[in-house]
Amino acid sequence: MVQYQRLIIHHGRKEERFRVSVEEVGGLKRAKQKFLSLLFLSILSFCFVMSPYLFGFSTLSLLDSFSRESEALSSYEPSTAPLCSDISNGTICCDRTGLRSDICVMKGDVRTNSASSSVFLFTSTKNNTNPEKIKPYTRKWETSVMDTVQELNLITKDSNSSSDRVCDVYHDVPAVFFSTGGYTGNVYHEFNDGIIPLFITSQHFNKKVVFVIVEYHDWWEMKYGDIVSQLSDYPLVDFNGDSRTHCFKEATVGLRIHDELTVNSTLMVNENQTIVDFRNVLDRAYSPRIQSLIQEETEAKETTTTSLDLKKPKLVILSRNGSSRAILNENLLVKVAEETGFSVEVLRPDKRTEMAKIYRSMNTSDVMIGVHGAAMTHFLFLKPKTVFIQIVPLGTDWAAETYYGEPAKKLGLKYVGYKITPKESSLYDEYGKDDPIIRDPDSLNDKGWEYTKKIYLQGQNVKLDLRRFRETLIRSYDFSIRRRSREEVPRLLVT
Ligand SMILES: *[C@@H]1O[C@H](CO)[C@@H](O)[C@H](O)[C@H]1NC(C)=O
Ligand SMILES: *[C@@H]1O[C@H](CO)[C@@H](O)[C@H](O)[C@H]1NC(C)=O
Ligand SMILES: *[C@@H]1O[C@H](CO)[C@@H](O)[C@H](O)[C@H]1NC(C)=O
Ligand SMILES: *[C@@H]1O[C@H](CO)[C@@H](O)[C@H](O)[C@H]1NC(C)=O
Ligand SMILES: *[C@@H]1O[C@H](CO)[C@@H](O)[C@H](O)[C@H]1NC(C)=O
Ligand SMILES: *[C@@H]1O[C@H](CO)[C@@H](O)[C@H](O)[C@H]1NC(C)=O
Ligand SMILES: *[C@@H]1O[C@H](CO)[C@@H](O)[C@H](O)[C@H]1NC(C)=O
Repeated sequence: MVQYQRLIIHHGRKEERFRVSVEEVGGLKRAKQKFLSLLFLSILSFCFVMSPYLFGFSTLSLLDSFSRESEALSSYEPSTAPLCSDISNGTICCDRTGLRSDICVMKGDVRTNSASSSVFLFTSTKNNTNPEKIKPYTRKWETSVMDTVQELNLITKDSNSSSDRVCDVYHDVPAVFFSTGGYTGNVYHEFNDGIIPLFITSQHFNKKVVFVIVEYHDWWEMKYGDIVSQLSDYPLVDFNGDSRTHCFKEATVGLRIHDELTVNSTLMVNENQTIVDFRNVLDRAYSPRIQSLIQEETEAKETTTTSLDLKKPKLVILSRNGSSRAILNENLLVKVAEETGFSVEVLRPDKRTEMAKIYRSMNTSDVMIGVHGAAMTHFLFLKPKTVFIQIVPLGTDWAAETYYGEPAKKLGLKYVGYKITPKESSLYDEYGKDDPIIRDPDSLNDKGWEYTKKIYLQGQNVKLDLRRFRETLIRSYDFSIRRRSREEVPRLLVT
């Protein structure tokens, strides 16, 4: 698999420090490294400040790629109506103020021309807008991946003289153009860079919108068709694969994005929707499939053997199917969790696992446990007020919190970051307690991505200290019991 790297410059809690996070797709690897700002600045081959909120950005020969991000990315977005939300007929307007994505809006006689990677806007006024170029992907700060994303030309054309004005397909609704290239293939990126921004950008159209996909993949439509059909009543258009001219009255090119795996209600166009509304979309999306799965099962076996288990709180272990960051004593963990009172399900999703099945497991669970990695994205499938325990291996604290911990709290989950002790890491036996790898992961992360990747991401497994972990299990159990009884009270009152 093609391996991309990303480097995120992050303004850490300590004012004088910058943190740099690196992620590799494919291996689903993440890490971070921190630089003292002085050292950091001296390394930079160039650095500039774009606004009081913006941090400098740099190239680092280490990675041969660069990118930038800050903790407060979402605050660059205007809090009032977004730019270009109210443009006049016959114009193209691009909002390039966002750090994570550009977005262009075209109004009037909009026509696709995939042969030239263009979207034309036909107008009869002499006052043509200048042509624009845009890559409709939400990681604009990350040049290494943006280099792989197809660019679209947005061009105004004179409708009096143009001969190529035939519409093969006329759509009476607006279009939203976006790319499923880039890091698509990694579930974290599929949701963070694609599906959630698609919700943010399109939900106010109330499904009266056509999605035009650049760098379209059949498998993506297979995997996300359920969700897409909750956002649009119309079939997808494969921009490159469909050479016909599609005509629209309006088009949005590019997606809006707020923050990691979340929806910021104050930035939504019409209504104040949140990440919970996004989750409701997922619930509606997977409901029909789950209903038919349940029906198939009841037809297969008349008796409901699991009814007793349903009384117990359910714990799902989201197990990594890979060569690293496994829970080495998973069998024992299952045993201890069962002793605590849970009914336990071990889920080992891979690329082919049906999303509806994963949703079903998550939506019926009280607690989910997993080791930090892209699969943690499935916390989005958990019901608000349930428990998400992320096991945080050595050297992965920052990424675990930023990408999953914080967003999980915004969804209303009870989030527990279980930071392992050195002895719970497989690295402890390998390197010994006095090695900097064990004593001071930050110093290793500072040395560079290659170290982080090899040691903490690819080279580490977890052996839980179950006496220690049991505390977390017991608290989660008690929490679940209390939540369940609270939720059952209204039902008891009714009957
Ligand atoms: C949502 O966006 C607003 C405006 O940019 C910002 O002030 C606020 O902090 C954001 N909320 C969250 C929870 O990030
Ligand atoms: C916008 O422009 C298109 C063609 O340029 C025209 O067909 C349409 O009627 C116009 N709409 C409005 C509301 O003026
Ligand atoms: C197109 O034609 C209309 C009416 O025939 C005219 O008003 C307009 O100026 C023309 N536009 C251009 C760009 O020539
Ligand atoms: C042409 O554009 C200029 C500036 O963009 C604007 O002030 C002017 O009103 C426009 N004229 C027409 C006829 O649209
Ligand atoms: C949206 O938020 C405003 C306050 O910011 C509130 O008055 C209104 O009821 C909310 N609307 C919905 C649909 O939640
Ligand atoms: C998820 O669980 C809730 C209640 O716990 C249920 O109402 C809902 O139908 C479930 N969703 C799906 C898609 O099965
Ligand atoms: C990963 O998944 C594959 C196919 O689903 C399976 O054959 C393999 O045993 C799994 N590996 C681990 C470590 O669970």
